[in-house]
Amino acid sequence: MKVTKAVIPAAGLGTRMLPATKTVPKEMLPLVDKPVIQYIIEEAVESGIEDILIVTNRAKSAMDDYFDYTPELEDRLSAAGKTEELEAVRRTADIANIFYVRQKETRGLGHAVWRAKRFVGDEPFAVLLGDDVMMAETPVTKQLIDAAERYGASAVGTQKVLPEAISKYSSLKVAPLDGRIFRVEDMNEKPTPEEKFSDYAILGRYVLTREIFDILENTPPGHGGEIQLTDGLKTLCKLVPMVAVDFEGRRYDTGNLKGFLEATIDFALRNDEVGAWLREFIEEKARG
Ligand code: UTP
Repeated sequence: MKVTKAVIPAAGLGTRMLPATKTVPKEMLPLVDKPVIQYIIEEAVESGIEDILIVTNRAKSAMDDYFDYTPELEDRLSAAGKTEELEAVRRTADIANIFYVRQKETRGLGHAVWRAKRFVGDEPFAVLLGDDVMMAETPVTKQLIDAAERYGASAVGTQKVLPEAISKYSSLKVAPLDGRIFRVEDMNEKPTPEEKFSDYAILGRYVLTREIFDILENTPPGHGGEIQLTDGLKTLCKLVPMVAVDFEGRRYDTGNLKGFLEATIDFALRNDEVGAWLREFIEEKARG
């Protein structure tokens, strides 16, 4: 099983980050010196992905523009001898083969993934949520692909969350396989305390096989009236083998303010240009 395609659903409305996301897609908000979506694309590329489909909507064309050439700007940078800036601008346009499809109605994550059917064909593919940024030694998508290849299975990324937080996620019913890898037996989207299987939550990364498309086509709207990917995965895990990978690394939900700020601070502290300065600034603030 070789995984070379990835799908990035990025067609959500971003209502938790309003008014900032009224005209700027949340995936285009800058995390230190790059937009959120670039971190996600870089993770995919570092995981061996060659072709990437971004699921967008009519309010998100800034994303397509970002991964395109900018002749006027590039000419100006070149004439001014600003080679570093020129390279940075060029790199974003040549980073991978990027394709786009629109989700014409915001009908949920499951519906957004279903829009990738023609792009994916028969191959297994990775899914990276457009607002979940990971900081990890080994890219999280690579950790999932390795497990999926080893077990000939679909894979979902997971970590334990606090018991009081699981109702915001999908809860997994798992059985141990090997170390950080579990067999997935069942799952529930946004469970009540009585419904939850465990505190292992699905967090933003998947490797799926083509069976998911027929399943999603027949999945009725679930929680919030939207077609939920988890409802489709619940059926998939009973049809084909599925593993959960308790991945090494930290996940940031940049689609809400606290997650966005955590990511901004953590990535800035690791940045060569501003990291040392920011640490001093924070220490100074903490002293009051
Ligand atoms: P979220 O629930 O985190 O995103 O969806 P949202 O809907 O933009 O958020 P809020 O609650 O309004 O702030 C998880 C992922 O699924 C995508 C989102 O873009 C995000 O990557 N999504 C969600 C779609 O692509 N289409 C949808 O219809 C819904």
